[in-house]
Amino acid sequence: MNAIKTLLIGTALSIATTAVYADMKPEDAIKYRKAGYNVMSWNMSKIKAMAIDAPESFDAKQVANAATAIAAMANMGMGALYIAGSEESIGDMKTRAKAEIFTDKDGVKEVAVKFNQAANELAKVAATGDKVAIAQAFKDTGASCKACHDKYRKE
Ligand code: HEC
Repeated sequence: MNAIKTLLIGTALSIATTAVYADMKPEDAIKYRKAGYNVMSWNMSKIKAMAIDAPESFDAKQVANAATAIAAMANMGMGALYIAGSEESIGDMKTRAKAEIFTDKDGVKEVAVKFNQAANELAKVAATGDKVAIAQAFKDTGASCKACHDKYRKE
């Protein structure tokens, strides 16, 4: 009896989750993913400024917050925003995603895993306040952003 109940609840939950995604408009998926990338970009600039370009402005707390924000985005599962119908620009909502990011599952997984590891390492290192280690982790993270862009983002 309990097992059946659990099963039924489980099914209801998974239907609800699917419905949420099915309801997302493709133009919103494009908007959300671009917003996510822009938030990461802003925070990457902060770390670059404070840990590399203007080390005299280094603020350990700010750097740690920026790195935490980037790791949170990386852990959010942005891949879920590449939904059917969001392959092409929709009116004013432009997308630069290449068609391959929707189809090349193994290739995307490879760059996404590397990015995820780099972003989490950056957050870990940023929490220590070690400027040299932060600069290195920043470069590794930036390289992992670029690796995906080179393959899956149009010019
Ligand atoms: C797994 C692939 C992938 C990773 C990792 C990735 N990006 Fe991107 N990025 C894309 C794709 C694809 C687009 C184009 C999205 C679109 O236009 O729909 C994009 C777009 C962008 C944009 C432009 C957004 C806009 O408004 O047009 C910026 C800025 C950006 N990424 C920064 C970053 C930064 C910084 C990182 C790393 C911290 C990063 N990205 C990691 C794939 C990735």
